[in-house]
Amino acid sequence: MPKKDDIKIFKGLENIYICETSISFIDGKEGKLVYRGIPVEVLAEKSTYEEVVFFLWFGHLPRKDELEEFEDEMKSARKLDEEMKDMIEKFKTSHPMDLLRTIVSIMGLSNSEKKKSDEEKALEIISKVPTAVAYHHRISMGEKPLEPSDELDHASNFYYMMTGRSPDEKISRIMNATLILHAEQGLNASTFSAIVISSTLSDLYSAITGAVGALKGPLHGGANEKVMELVEKIGKPENVESEIEKMIAQKHRIPGFGHRIYKTFDPRYRILKRYSKEMVRNDEDERYYRIVERMEEEVLKKLSGKGIFPNVDLYSGILYKFLGFDRRFYTAVFAVARLAGWIAHIFEYSKMNKIIRPCGYYVGPMDVEYKPLEERE
Ligand code: ACO
Repeated sequence: MPKKDDIKIFKGLENIYICETSISFIDGKEGKLVYRGIPVEVLAEKSTYEEVVFFLWFGHLPRKDELEEFEDEMKSARKLDEEMKDMIEKFKTSHPMDLLRTIVSIMGLSNSEKKKSDEEKALEIISKVPTAVAYHHRISMGEKPLEPSDELDHASNFYYMMTGRSPDEKISRIMNATLILHAEQGLNASTFSAIVISSTLSDLYSAITGAVGALKGPLHGGANEKVMELVEKIGKPENVESEIEKMIAQKHRIPGFGHRIYKTFDPRYRILKRYSKEMVRNDEDERYYRIVERMEEEVLKKLSGKGIFPNVDLYSGILYKFLGFDRRFYTAVFAVARLAGWIAHIFEYSKMNKIIRPCGYYVGPMDVEYKPLEERE
């Protein structure tokens, strides 16, 4: 065994590079994020989710004919079979992320005998998962689930299936932008989980199932639900200061703030904040918006010196609320978008695959005697 002084432990794999990638780059000091060289702000304003998925998976912006074909393929794979609908019905009271993890796993089960390429499997996952999440959303709200619409693009159709409302141009842009902003973010915990699983040459469904499990945690994608829980607990803007002070004094993490890479404002936060503000429609929305804004002011005042700034999850929750999504589904909405990045990284890493297998430095005892059961105290 090497001496402890001869090795270095990188807790949480901080600052460890495990591969080369050309999918995205984060400048954590400047607060910049690019997908394959294009700033995420540009894509959020001008592109569609389908185009960004193609770009992330295949490495170039699609030509018109390529995009049309890709859109058609995604549309034609949206529908759920009856078995899947029954399964969602059966487990409708489960947390949406628990059910989603199971849904992806079951998709793998029903496809285990079929000879599909990874690209076909990826198309199926990215097209059907939003339908499954929306199906669950509708029935858990006591509403009739809706079939996907062939008339609508991916993000607009997801909104329609979630809420039952046809999106206007503004909502379509917001939906496309929010899915694009959440589509990719380097080797974060869920993407890394996906890569670890696929590095064993396991299958795509297993890798995505693992990624969903990792995203669920409140230190990662689950933070958007936690932000909204906190906002509801705080209740009114006047209570923000004391609640944040209490949380800091008790060394609690404030959801929606802090990031392993960004040590300044997360560029996605700015856009989501703007859209949340634009979506405020009544006094109640205004109250929610003001609470989050006050949280931002207080945390920046107290913690920005430590490099803690708002992250993507701070405003996504209230934006989803204003769009009409139930709080329990916020992380599942994030997962619907992030499928793009998970799959892009699985494809990329598989081309230079090496099984991922780090080490833990052993600090336990050696030469321990094995005592028979009857002699143990
Ligand atoms: N609130 C209060 N203090 C915080 C926060 C926070 N949100 N985030 C970090 N800190 C503090 C830590 O307590 C630590 O303080 P210390 O040095 O006095 O012990 C210091 O900042 C550094 O934190 P680390 O844990 O080393 O940062 P790490 O990179 O490991 O964690 C993480 C990043 C998990 C995102 C963290 O900032 C956090 O828990 N944030 C809240 C949860 C959240 O919003 N997660 C979503 C992130 S974005 C995403 O995954 C989609």
